[in-house]
Amino acid sequence: MLNTTPDIPAFATAITHWQQAQGRHHLPWQGTNDAYRIWLSEIMLQQTQVDTVIGYYTRFLERFPNLQSLAQASLDDVMPFWAGLGYYTRARNLHRCAVQVMEHWNGQFPDQAEQIATLPGIGRSTAAAIAAFAHGRRSPILDGNVKRVFCRYFGIHGNTQLSAIDKKLWALAEQIVEQAPDTLNMAAYTQGLMDLGATRCTRSRPQCAACPLQNRCHAHATNTQSELPTPRQRKTLPERDCALLVIHLSSGILLEKQPSPGIWGGLWSLPRFDTADALKTACLNLGYHREPVRLAGLQHVFSHFRLNIDPWYLHLPDTLPLQETQPHQCWMPTARLETTALPTPIRKILGVVQAGTLV
Ligand code: ADE
Repeated sequence: MLNTTPDIPAFATAITHWQQAQGRHHLPWQGTNDAYRIWLSEIMLQQTQVDTVIGYYTRFLERFPNLQSLAQASLDDVMPFWAGLGYYTRARNLHRCAVQVMEHWNGQFPDQAEQIATLPGIGRSTAAAIAAFAHGRRSPILDGNVKRVFCRYFGIHGNTQLSAIDKKLWALAEQIVEQAPDTLNMAAYTQGLMDLGATRCTRSRPQCAACPLQNRCHAHATNTQSELPTPRQRKTLPERDCALLVIHLSSGILLEKQPSPGIWGGLWSLPRFDTADALKTACLNLGYHREPVRLAGLQHVFSHFRLNIDPWYLHLPDTLPLQETQPHQCWMPTARLETTALPTPIRKILGVVQAGTLV
């Protein structure tokens, strides 16, 4: 018979030893205690998988190697290095945060989680991770992966988005770091929790046989891994439609800077219309009498809705004078598209146009 009474002091030790022996050690943001690098990685990793983050992280650091270089740059310089990662508020907050740390903290990240959490874009768990990795601080983390580990190990039922459950999980997270041995390596424990959630205690088909917690895990003992954490009722996302226009002249493609806040705020997109009819009418009003050609449609999923995109392509002869642009518009030379801050679906559409026989 398994003993599933939680052993809180043993929990932290087991995770730490497992991380040191079997966790991840070669991620590009490991092996440093530079708070700038750690902060950047934690923000990128908030909503994006490790494999995707690695390339963005490396390119970002080549261009902005330290806090000062980021704070001195304009947001327009930063956005191309975030384009494609999604959740663009993160990039805007990242830039604001760099400016604040330069102005209010003398260019040094504060070293306590409570102080770090006062900076833009940094919540309690991210602040604790930064404090643990950069300064070995004993501050508990609680992200989505960690919630799953706790719910299973401690047998916590109920929707983790409910504030009562969230409070219970935070209380446990605190208790664990308080009761852990004084010698606990906080960076290894914190990374271990993340690694365990990402590589063993996965949402589906967890690898319990290779988990250091299996002997006392409630979900393993009761075979309730698929019921814990309690699945959320998934809402079906509402759908929206739009038509996008690629106007292509040899001198460039017409792009529009998106206002922020708003979807794709700070990035460049194509002129957008509610319907294909509105798009065609606009072409006629601009004096373009060619019919635009319909391209393959695509869907992009945002956190709160799905966007059905109906893209159209209009290749115009060079004899036509360029339309004057408004302040938020520009004729972007195709050679500069590569380094322009474009959202992923727009990059896909322009990729089709550039690669295809349409050009
Ligand atoms: N997810 C969030 N933080 C992480 C980290 N430091 N390493 C791997 N995945 C993470």
